[in-house]
Amino acid sequence: MKAIVPVAGLGTRFLPATKTQPKEMLPLVDTPVIQYVVEEIVRSGIKNIIFVTTRHKKCLEDYFDSHFELESALEMSGKSETVRELRRIVKLAHFSFVRQHAPLGNGDAIVSAAHLLHDEPVVVAFGDDIFVGRELVTKKLIEVYRAYHAPVCVLKKVPRSKVHQYGIVRAKKIGAATYQIFDIVEKPSAKNAPSNLAVFGRYVLTPQIIDYLRELHPPSRNKELGLTEALRLNLRRGGSFYGWEVSPQAHFDCGSKIDFLKATVYFGLKHRELKHEFRSHLRSLEL
Ligand code: G1P
Repeated sequence: MKAIVPVAGLGTRFLPATKTQPKEMLPLVDTPVIQYVVEEIVRSGIKNIIFVTTRHKKCLEDYFDSHFELESALEMSGKSETVRELRRIVKLAHFSFVRQHAPLGNGDAIVSAAHLLHDEPVVVAFGDDIFVGRELVTKKLIEVYRAYHAPVCVLKKVPRSKVHQYGIVRAKKIGAATYQIFDIVEKPSAKNAPSNLAVFGRYVLTPQIIDYLRELHPPSRNKELGLTEALRLNLRRGGSFYGWEVSPQAHFDCGSKIDFLKATVYFGLKHRELKHEFRSHLRSLEL
């Protein structure tokens, strides 16, 4: 299975930091957010990754390419372990890049990459969402897809005060963490939300969903095309849709400042060289 990773967003929530660098390249300690996304989908069995970029994201393309001069300089100064790590990143997967020509929503981003698919299911991974813990979330979604041959997404319970920020589903639990979804509403008010189960940035989409996106494309003037619209159309036309629930601790929405900060602390406390010093620093703070 291939994965489409839309990374064309402007990152306005992180201004001024994102004025000149993509939000996906902001580091969590020493590793950019996008690398965590890529590693999780690669460990789930994906070998082909299609990034949907824009002209502001060139350094993201360069990140997954080799840097000959840097590698030679590091090698000459005996830093062969760092060179090995840089080369490992380049070889994580086969990377392709397509451009989204205008900020017309995540549905439009997926349509921009759809010509590279051949009537096949595809993983979609948003560049902001990081999943941690023992379970590989994308692998779980693929398992659910294989059981039902229908689209699948990640679900996480959020406080009612935050439902207006996410796609929210009406769903019934049918397994330990599996849900059948009957409706999805994009960013509802707390009053109109069908539940507090929110959709987060990993999906397996069927060719039918890609067809629905094409049917809804192009979006009408000045509007964005959201993936949610195609998933909703699928349900309206009698298709099924499933979800896999993750625990709140297993996910960071790195598009939000508070989760970015929490993720920084999480990876700081796991970092091979820094964890002891960082832990004792946190303990020493008068919290
Ligand atoms: C997108 C989706 C939304 C989902 C969210 C998860 O929204 O449209 O359904 O809940 O990602 O991060 P965005 O964050 O692009 O506004």
